[in-house]
Amino acid sequence: MNDIKLIEEALYSYIPKELVREKNLVSSIEYSLKAGGKRIRPRLVLEFSRLCHGSDKAALPFACAVEMIHTYSLIHDDLPCMDDDDMRRGKPSNHKVYGEEIALLAGDALQSLAFDIMSRKETINNSSSDCAVRCINILSDYCGTSGMVGGQVIDLENEKKTADLDSVTECNLKKTGALIKAACEMGCVSASADEEKISAARSYGENIGIAFQIVDDILDVTSSDEELGKPVGSDIGNNKSTYVSLLGIDECKKRVDSMTSRAIECLSVFDGDTNALKKLALNLKSRNK
Ligand code: IPE
Ligand code: IPE
Ligand code: MG
Ligand code: MG
Ligand code: MG
Repeated sequence: MNDIKLIEEALYSYIPKELVREKNLVSSIEYSLKAGGKRIRPRLVLEFSRLCHGSDKAALPFACAVEMIHTYSLIHDDLPCMDDDDMRRGKPSNHKVYGEEIALLAGDALQSLAFDIMSRKETINNSSSDCAVRCINILSDYCGTSGMVGGQVIDLENEKKTADLDSVTECNLKKTGALIKAACEMGCVSASADEEKISAARSYGENIGIAFQIVDDILDVTSSDEELGKPVGSDIGNNKSTYVSLLGIDECKKRVDSMTSRAIECLSVFDGDTNALKKLALNLKSRNK
């Protein structure tokens, strides 16, 4: 089975089925979870776990948890009070189909579901309670005030001014880098890797994380709605300062190249086959969606 299929099968198995009254909420959750997406974060969890000789069975709940947090962040990111974007993953945004109230609550419910699945008995039985607690701590830290949510706040504040490069870097590190970093670290932790490896995974994640957002910002200028599956020109429309608006596309591409090389260097502490993670970093750099 290929990895996307493996991830999606596990992800969909967690969609609540037993609720009757809250059908609309469950449909809304299901709509966004099943809308596709590149599944980068869960793939990072699996690849780092494999590199540290862990089992897919132990890593999959953590892979699904980070994808749930990511999906919630996208549903909220598209709301009118945030980026106000009507298309996501090639389909109408969640709030365009289910309304703002249900979209907001679906994001909330996805967040609690992520922590639910990481703390379930079967998750702990397949890894260990120490691993599960540490993954819960990593993800809660990186998705909160000093991570993704904190980054989204900086992003909104920056719309009101021309932000400098330091502020945009901090924003990117938090709003996007944090969840990518969480995925890399959780992969190692779920395989009971040592601290040196966890720290190397963190640096890899941080480098590809910022590079990932810069490429996203380049595509917002150079791509099309059809190819990207979300509205291009969103950043300019929202008066966002980005690496692209501050440095121009050529300089951005150079920085993405050097961050990708730095990420790949971080893999040298691992004794296993690092080819999949090298390839992943290179593919993210040259992606067109
Ligand atoms: C989009 O993330 C939001 C950013 C952090 C730039 P992805 O590009 O990973 O979105 P999907 O999951 O593939 O739709
Ligand atoms: C997204 O940044 C960051 C999060 C969703 C946390 P963007 O706002 O650039 O992402 P897209 O372009 O809408 O996917
Ligand atoms: Mg945004
Ligand atoms: Mg957005
Ligand atoms: Mg964007």
